[in-house]
Parts: sequence; structure tokens; C-alpha cells
Amino acid sequence: MYRVNEDYLKLPGSYLFSTIGKKSRAFKEAHPEADVISLGIGDVTQPLVPAIIKALHEAVDDMSRAETFHGYSPDLGYSWLRETIAKNDYADRGCSISPDEIFISDGAKCDSGNIQELFAADSRIAVCDPVYPVYVDSNVMAGRTGSYDPETGCWSDVIYMPCTEENGFVADLPKERPDLIYLCFPNNPTGVAIKKDQLQKWVDYALENGCVIIYDAAYEAYISEEDVPHSIYECAGAKECAIEIRSFSKNAGFTGVRLGYTVVPKALKCGGASLRDMWARRHGTKYNGAPYMIQRAGEACYTEEGRASIRGLVDYYMENAATIYDGLKGMGYTVYGGVNSPYIWLKTTGGMTSWEFFDYLLKNAGVVGTPGSGFGPNGEGFFRLTAFGTHENTQAALKRIAAL
Ligand SMILES: Cc1ncc(COP(=O)(O)O)c(C=O)c1O
Repeated sequence: MYRVNEDYLKLPGSYLFSTIGKKSRAFKEAHPEADVISLGIGDVTQPLVPAIIKALHEAVDDMSRAETFHGYSPDLGYSWLRETIAKNDYADRGCSISPDEIFISDGAKCDSGNIQELFAADSRIAVCDPVYPVYVDSNVMAGRTGSYDPETGCWSDVIYMPCTEENGFVADLPKERPDLIYLCFPNNPTGVAIKKDQLQKWVDYALENGCVIIYDAAYEAYISEEDVPHSIYECAGAKECAIEIRSFSKNAGFTGVRLGYTVVPKALKCGGASLRDMWARRHGTKYNGAPYMIQRAGEACYTEEGRASIRGLVDYYMENAATIYDGLKGMGYTVYGGVNSPYIWLKTTGGMTSWEFFDYLLKNAGVVGTPGSGFGPNGEGFFRLTAFGTHENTQAALKRIAAL
């Protein structure tokens, strides 16, 4: 009899968002008249901007003519897109990243889940707590996390770095030395950003201790403050110790279009092994590239018109963030995030657990959010609301919460 990868069987229960979905559906069935507003899942609601739609249409037309038809894309992605990214996202910010250090993909989720393949099976990983679940779960599947303790919600071989009110939700350096450090800023779920001098400490630590930082910058477009780095490569030495992952989902609304990229610098070497060459090898073997049309749509994000419209989208969501943040604060809630991020992280009231608060809000206000404990033990007692709704829904949700 064949055997399955038993590491998959170690994964606990159902995924956070399926539990939220089940609870919301059950509530709607029991209360068909209720108009439930979801500020739970981090999915966008606004349509693609005209510059992107135009690029998509043109690229579809390209595919209809023999002279402009495109088959498989190059392993790393089209050079015109990688060059555009290298200039706009890096050179213009004072970081020198060459196009052949950029790998185009179909999104940050796949890259952040797959990148662990480059590292030894016995590598120790360190994650923030609370954390975007993909980093831990992908390492569970790879057999790297030991055993799960349902009491604590922790894996025996993972180094957890608490993000609490006390440390401003920016983890302290770990007490034990990890091999891989996952960092995500601006953060999902806490919505908190990291200052450049704080991030430099992580880079220095990684260089001194022989670690690699996997830096997830999926929410980079939401940064509004001056001293917050847009890329980890703004820190000295980061090219020797960090991989950066980016997404077009949250800035350009590509959650259903699918496009992202990962930067693996050539300077990132482990002995004689080049991580960049290893990732290139992986791309060549296991991935056949984001579609031509979608890469053209990605390119359109960097035109003058594309940039201006995307800025408009981000501003739209950030208005919601301000509505939620200011509204809740005015009601006496303790709130974090929402300034450099589309996520608002609030403290539950009345000593409620995160799931109790979820039920309370759903039952009494018809508003769905995400329980903080679903992101890790240190998320207990917190709750995440997203700014990705429409203005109308966001304002209506706040009115209902105010009336509680
Ligand atoms: C921190 C973080 N990284 C990555 C992703 C996934 O991005 P993508 O849509 O590009 O796969 C998300 C989505 O919610 C996220 O919150």
C-alpha cells in the first residue's frame, strides 16, 4: 500500500477562513433577513483600473495574431516586466536589484509557501506570533515543525516570536538561533509597520548569525510614513541575507488576476550554493510562468496612468482604514494598525476571547471580522478588521458597532 505524506495529516483542523465561512453561513441560514457585512477576509472589492483593463485587452488581442502570439513565458518572467520592476520598485528607491534577481510568479502566497524548499529539512524556522498562516503550514507540510500541541496551538520545533502590545507588535530578536526568519511588514494581521532602524537590526542579526530572512512585503503599497522602508534592501547588507516577496494583489487588486514576484539576490550564498540559482532551477522545473496577458497587466501598473489609478485604489481603501480606526477609537476601543496598512487590529472588549468577540459582533451587529487567535496564540484577545470593503459597507459596519 502506498503511503501519504504524513506531515499533511499533522495540520490541525480546518483553515481559519473556512471556519469563519461556516459560522457566517450558519448565521445567515438562521437569520435570512440579516444583511451581514464582511470585513473579514483580506480580499479587495474595487474593480481593476482602466489602464490595466486596456493592457489586458491589448494582450488578449496579441494572442489572436500569429506575429504577436506568446507561448510559454521565460522561466523568470518576461524581461520587460522584470526590468520595469527593477527600476520602479528598487532603483527609484535607491536599491540596486538586477532584473535577473527578480522572479515573476502568480502571487505571494505560492512563493511564500514554496520558498522553504530551498532549505535543509532540519532548518529551524522563526515566525512572528500572530502570523500569516502560510509560513508555518508550508513548513509543516515539509516536515520541519515537529509535533503540534493543541493546548498551546504551537509546534515543538518552531521558534515563535511574540508580537504584543508591549513590543508594539514588532517582535524582539529571537533567543534561540533560527535558520530562517519570516518577517512580514506592513504586517498581516496586526497592520503594524517596521521602521528602518528596527529592520536594520534584523538584517544585522541575520548576517551575524547566518540566517536568511524571508521578507513578505505584500502590503508595501500601503506605507504612508516616511521612516518605514518599502523594501528590506533599503537596509545595509540585506542582499546577503534576505529574500523579498511582493504581490500585485493588494495594490492593483490582482487577487483574482494573480501576479507576484520574489527577489533572490545573487549575493545570497550558502557556502558555494547560490540561492538565486537554486530558485531559478526550481522555477525552471516546477513552474511555467504567469500568463503573458497578466504580465502585461502587471507592466501597466507602472505606467503614469497605472500608477495614478492604483494610488487612487490604495487611497480608497485607506479612507476605509481611517473610518474604522478613528471610529473604533472614538468608541473607546484600543486599536492598532490602519496607518501603513489596510488592517486594523483591535482589542476585544469585556474580556471576550477572539472567537467570543467574533460571535458577539456577528450576532449583534451582523459584521464579520477575523479572530486574532486564528493567527497564533498571541492573537488571542484581538480581532482583525480589513479596509478592503466598500465605503458604504465600511461606514454601515461602523454605525452598527457604535450602536452595540
Ligand atoms: C502577508 C501576505 N502575504 C501574501 C499574501 C497572498 O498574496 P497573493 O494574493 O499575491 O498570493 C497575503 C494575502 O492575504 C498576505 O496577507
